[in-house]
Amino acid sequence: METMGDLRRTNMCGQLSMSDIGKEVVLMGWVQKRRSLGGLIFADLRDVTGLIQVVFDTEVNKEAFEKAESLRSEFVIAVRGKVYERKSKNLEMATGEIEIYIDELKILDTAETPPIYIKDNDDVSEQMRLKYRFLDLRKPQMQNNLLIRSKASKVIREFLYENDFNEIETPFLTKPSPEGARDYLVPSRVNPGKFYALPQSPQLFKQLLMVSGMNRYFQIVRCFRDEDLRANRQPEFTQVDLEMSFVDVEDVIELNERLLQRIFKEIINVNIELPIKRMSYQVAMDKYGCDKPDLRFGYELIDISEIFANSEFNAFKSTYESNGKIKCIKIDGSADEFSKKGIQKLEKFVKTYGAKGLAWFKMENGIFDSPIAKFLSETEINELISKLELKEKDIAFVVADKESVVNTALGALRIEVAKEKNLIDPNKYELVWITDFPLFEYSEEDDRYVAKHHPFTSPVDEDLDKIESDPGNCRAKAYDIVINGDEMGGGSIRINNSNLQSRMFKALGLSVEEANDKFGYLLEAFKYGVPPHGGLAFGLDRLMMVLTKSDNIRDVIAFPKTQSASCLMTEAPAIATEKQLKELGIQVTENNI
Ligand code: AMO
Ligand code: AMP
Repeated sequence: METMGDLRRTNMCGQLSMSDIGKEVVLMGWVQKRRSLGGLIFADLRDVTGLIQVVFDTEVNKEAFEKAESLRSEFVIAVRGKVYERKSKNLEMATGEIEIYIDELKILDTAETPPIYIKDNDDVSEQMRLKYRFLDLRKPQMQNNLLIRSKASKVIREFLYENDFNEIETPFLTKPSPEGARDYLVPSRVNPGKFYALPQSPQLFKQLLMVSGMNRYFQIVRCFRDEDLRANRQPEFTQVDLEMSFVDVEDVIELNERLLQRIFKEIINVNIELPIKRMSYQVAMDKYGCDKPDLRFGYELIDISEIFANSEFNAFKSTYESNGKIKCIKIDGSADEFSKKGIQKLEKFVKTYGAKGLAWFKMENGIFDSPIAKFLSETEINELISKLELKEKDIAFVVADKESVVNTALGALRIEVAKEKNLIDPNKYELVWITDFPLFEYSEEDDRYVAKHHPFTSPVDEDLDKIESDPGNCRAKAYDIVINGDEMGGGSIRINNSNLQSRMFKALGLSVEEANDKFGYLLEAFKYGVPPHGGLAFGLDRLMMVLTKSDNIRDVIAFPKTQSASCLMTEAPAIATEKQLKELGIQVTENNI
């Protein structure tokens, strides 16, 4: 094997162009592939900026040519040579108009045949990709995702520094934070039997920094949540976390809109118009069935419950009588596109969301048609036609059930149908703030109210009295930012007064002792002068999914975890040694392995 000797890299592969013709350059990188052609050997040389063709020619340098005969894919080499215009240009390659004739070759390292191809869209399993992540990350698409992520962090930092934010780190070994997922625990060796919790977010620390007078805080920070993983969830993920003093909802929203505008402009050159749309939580639930509506297409949910106040159709009748909802989505002019089989498939789909069935109404040849037509009165049919503005070839899909089931099922159905009909424009970005979240949410499991966001969220001024008298209708100064149907971030104005904080704990059924045990340090701090404050946290990984058009969160994280929270490369989590467990005073029983 050779060393670089006195060769020093002068250029990066992907950055050379026609304007460099005639220059002598030194390049270093990996051999993408090698081809021999009589007295010539061609190789594509790759570094993080891209590929370039290098040529070994017996007539230019015989020694380099002979050495090049041993080159294989993924060998690491250094070359010195001259830039020439290519005779047969390859316009699919960014540097395809030029090539380098090599005078000197050093083989810096050899490589075994890699277990996965280093090329985009290779159909190798994700398991292999994750096991050999260091090779997977050599692919241009993956490298590009990481570079875009790096640039986004820079843009975010620059913007926040310009706006007087201070970057401050907070601990990872801490007490449980109040975000409501399961904690990752870390045993303390020096405090036997005691555990740290890895932070689900820096929530309370950032509030304490406001109490400390730090005015504006931010951190690009790892958060840890032991929850069921999905396509956009990882057990450790990154937040752009920020908090501001002496602000109300408008100030936080205004600043974050400008931040988003800057990110979209600088990273993908998309102009986001300000102000960003807003929608109350209630409207989002009523019209889209969820609090993160995808506004790139219509198909809003329409409430038709009242039409069926005296229905003869059992499912509707019982739903109406038990205060459930009957809602539908209308697909314009598309009745022909839904075969019997197609509708059965959709019915199966909504049933996975708990719906009991999927009825439909359509207009064909001027006639109203429905599998339940025989149960409907003429008045009901006429009211339906008029309420839904049902025209020729329109079809409406209906679910009757508890409101939550109807919303979930139809909310999912509208997305499913939009996908099937190819209505979702991948180049469109629909941003919306969801505001006026409920402060509390009733937990049937615990038979009490729990905080919808977290227990430090302030109620809206008009609803202060409802904390005790009407908690179900008490709204919070909380907001989420939703992009293309995904929650990108959320935050709130916090309670800054110990009296109100105590009322909140009481409403949540927390005794003074319990509150003190969990959040005593915050309550203590609240005795000594707390500025009004509030903030927000973006999910940086999710934002990167949007900016790189990835549908898998793992594609924007260098070393992600699988669905079962393991790392296939390092094989974490792993069994601890007897010695480690003994030191920690931990015994692993048969039951928990
Ligand atoms: P929240 O819990 O809403 O708020 O989290 C903020 C944002 O973080 C992202 N996110 C995740 N991303 C990937 N994997 C996960 N498991 C995951 N969980 C959350 C989401 C989410 O919008 N302390 C508050 C913020 C505040 O009030 O200021 C908080 O953590 O994009
Ligand atoms: P059934 O009377 O159960 O055979 O249902 C007749 C039609 O009504 C079928 O198309 C069912 O899918 C539909 N249906 C039944 N229950 C509901 C419901 N709760 N909501 C919407 N459609 C329903």
